[in-house]
Amino acid sequence: MSFAPDFLDEIRARVPLSDVIGKRVRLVRKGREFSGLCPFHNEKTPSFTVNEDKGFFHCFGCGAHGDVIGFVMRTDALAFPEAIERLAGMAGLEMPVRDSQARERAEENKTLHNLLETATVHFEKQLRMPAGKTAFDYVRRRGLDEATITQFRLGYAPDADGGLRAAMKRAGFDDEQMIAAGLLKQPEDERAPYEYFRNRLMFPIGDRAGRVIAFGGRVLGDGQPKYLNSPETELFHKGRVLYGLAQARAAARESGALVVVEGYMDVIALAQAGLRAAVAPLGTALTEDQIAELWRLAPEPVLCFDGDAAGQRAAARAIERALPLLAPGRSLGFVTLPPGEDPDTLVRGRGAAAMDGLLKAAEPLAQALWRLEFQARPADTPERRADLHARLKRRLGQIGDATVREFYRRHFGETIARAFAPPARGGQAGADRSWRPRNEAPWRGRSSRPPMPVFEPPGGRAARAALDQVMGRRPQQVFLATLVNHPDLIEELGENLALFSLPDRDLDKLKAEILHLSASLPGLDGAAIERHFTDKGESDVLRTILGQEVLQHAQFARREASVEVARRGLLHLFARFGRPQLEAQLAEAQRLLALDMTDGNNLRLEALKRSLLELDAKAAALDGEGEGASVA
Ligand code: UTP
Ligand code: MN
Repeated sequence: MSFAPDFLDEIRARVPLSDVIGKRVRLVRKGREFSGLCPFHNEKTPSFTVNEDKGFFHCFGCGAHGDVIGFVMRTDALAFPEAIERLAGMAGLEMPVRDSQARERAEENKTLHNLLETATVHFEKQLRMPAGKTAFDYVRRRGLDEATITQFRLGYAPDADGGLRAAMKRAGFDDEQMIAAGLLKQPEDERAPYEYFRNRLMFPIGDRAGRVIAFGGRVLGDGQPKYLNSPETELFHKGRVLYGLAQARAAARESGALVVVEGYMDVIALAQAGLRAAVAPLGTALTEDQIAELWRLAPEPVLCFDGDAAGQRAAARAIERALPLLAPGRSLGFVTLPPGEDPDTLVRGRGAAAMDGLLKAAEPLAQALWRLEFQARPADTPERRADLHARLKRRLGQIGDATVREFYRRHFGETIARAFAPPARGGQAGADRSWRPRNEAPWRGRSSRPPMPVFEPPGGRAARAALDQVMGRRPQQVFLATLVNHPDLIEELGENLALFSLPDRDLDKLKAEILHLSASLPGLDGAAIERHFTDKGESDVLRTILGQEVLQHAQFARREASVEVARRGLLHLFARFGRPQLEAQLAEAQRLLALDMTDGNNLRLEALKRSLLELDAKAAALDGEGEGASVA
């Protein structure tokens, strides 16, 4: 029997070649290909390669070559139809009816493809005709250039009935075929069929291979419906198609990234702005088929939604659909767009970089899910928290993959613990009471970043005392000595140094004073710091710190040490008593943000993250640069 080419394509697309082969051959990824020992001849060094992109395997040793179907036929010694049957089973596809109808249908589909291609060319031509001027001006006004119009094959279906029908007749297609293709509509009564799309800007919708299978037609200006889509046909099943897929495929494979937007114009505008890996469903929520299709192109496609209630509902629906399908390494990211923007207006108004930034900061599915559940209802009493807990548990139950489920379970456990941890300071809760922005603002004007409030470390006196015990005064003194002897480092590390406190209260005060001094007198040197304290009649304060007792334990703290050596030492100390505090503050900031999604809370969280990143980056830059500084 013969199979429709579409069906075979579907199988090839649904069953990853490397999965099938990977069951037989140990494959190692080498760039874009996999390699392993050839199953078709004996060899000791791998000459067998699998190219997932191209969908074939090849052995440089014995010349074996083929696609997924050929592989199954050879390794399982199956005839073609049997191999298809097995693969269809793996792909979860129904076998086509085995009769001559299948062949007939394949023939018909070929005709349909031809018909739709002919119609596409017709519409493209119309757009360049005088009758299409309004439509052409409209797309140009919306910022699309000639190359984009050509690439996406935009067209125009004129108002006057008959143009398309006549042209198609000339090309040899009859009314019945045009009805089957969704281009003509047969009224209920006996009247003659009429053209489905009239006075609309036409967006051809392609299948995976880019063959036109349907159209979306936009009204010019206002009017309802804004977009009219082809009816479902033999070729077009709305829930399986993603607009822009063929164009996005290559780009997604290259970059590993993929964006899902809402509309035709979004896909096109992003592509024109250089973000070519973008697709859109056709005005409906993502289906399982579409999500599966996305994952064939990228492990974590990013979905863009409006910030309004409808957008968030759509995000919730997408999550609902995705949970049963999650697999190790396979997820979705979420971007919430600024109010009133869609990706089209965003790239045109603020540039591709702005869109890129949003995409890079996409929220992982786990976080989006948490946020949605958390925002759904208040969780401010034990019962309501229990309810949140129950809802999250229900969500866990929807995750199909056991490993992923287990990691979600742990993740939610931690998130809940963080969210409901006792407030940091003396039983107070709430966004602006558990931390105090002491706006000394010593750093204002010294860095391009916005000034950051200085925070009391969470944990209060008990934590401080505990830290004190493990820490002892010596390393803290060394820390201060380094600052005094290398004030450049204060400037360099900026507010990061102010974010944590030294366990010893007096030493911490001294640190604050040194930081303050350095902030008010840029370009300050160590001698000037000493003078400052002498002038205040507190020369003894620094004497201990800068004395032999302390400095003999840490060469890097001495004035003679190079700034590189001093920096290394300082960062080393920071890792001991600064980092844990920053991490605790980060957890606290996350908790506050979860309780109260304000910009302020978000800014604070972001600032802390940035600080940690920056310090880690500096520390990483030192790694492997020689032995680390040590403090006795
Ligand atoms: P939107 O209403 O958000 O429109 O619909 P849009 O994409 O921003 O379009 P422009 O910028 O005004 O031209 C989003 C998508 O929903 C589907 C279409 O696929 C559209 O791109 N839709 C919308 C319909 O199918 N029918 C409609 O009447 C409206
Ligand atoms: Mn739009």
